[in-house]
Amino acid sequence: MNLEETIYKRQSIRNYKEEPLNDDEIGELRNYIDTLKVLNENICWSYEIVSKDNIKTILPWRAPHYLLLYSEEKENYLENIGFIFQQVDLFLQSKSLGSCWLGMASPKNFENEDSKQKFIITISFGKTDEGYRKINEFKRNDLKQISDKVDERLIPAQLAPSATNSQPWYFTHNNDGSYNVYRKKQNILRRRFTEKWNKIDIGISLAHLYITNTETFKFYIRDDAEQLRNYFYEGSFEM
Ligand SMILES: Cc1cc2nc3c(=O)[nH]c(=O)nc-3n(C[C@H](O)[C@H](O)[C@H](O)COP(=O)(O)O)c2cc1C
Repeated sequence: MNLEETIYKRQSIRNYKEEPLNDDEIGELRNYIDTLKVLNENICWSYEIVSKDNIKTILPWRAPHYLLLYSEEKENYLENIGFIFQQVDLFLQSKSLGSCWLGMASPKNFENEDSKQKFIITISFGKTDEGYRKINEFKRNDLKQISDKVDERLIPAQLAPSATNSQPWYFTHNNDGSYNVYRKKQNILRRRFTEKWNKIDIGISLAHLYITNTETFKFYIRDDAEQLRNYFYEGSFEM
């Protein structure tokens, strides 16, 4: 299955076989990561593939492999990490492997070589017996709740995964055919916990729009974008 088809079938997997991927399969993943599109060229990022022995988590299940994601902390680095590694989530799931973004897991006995890059988030992955999902099994907000106009071109973003399925994205249409993307303002209590993850979520939803429009997708931040009362402006894009 290709990455675009995977958008309509993927699901977070929390049930893995113990059997690890072989060296060729891990090599193929590394080669794919070398080709990824980024949202912001200006930010250094890196990743490491580790086993469960290098993971600290209160979650009751384990996977054979984990991606630890690192980045410089500048500009829209959280959105950038979401954008880059959602392509990896789709790549893994397109090969019938399981994967899950994990806010609730951090590195144990592991130091990144570049001390300027900070640990951001983890993704679990590995073989699984769980299959794909049908489109009517996605629990998502309606298109009219996530945009100023019902627009089927936004369905890939609508189906994107997000922390606690919070779906913090909102899209508006500009007269020149471009779009703005906004992030929901959460109340102050909730924001303390969700702000970091919700920025990653925005990048994840943009990755789905990139994968469905690889030739035309262009992201930029405007100085003159309209501000909306209950949302933070995150950027604009063409597709
Ligand atoms: C940034 C982020 C952090 C997440 N953290 C966790 C986590 O710590 N534990 C977990 O079980 N799922 C986690 N998830 C998975 C979400 O719960 C899941 O994506 C969401 O409920 C939608 O379900 P789906 O991915 O199957 O479409 C996370 C997802 C994202 C995007």
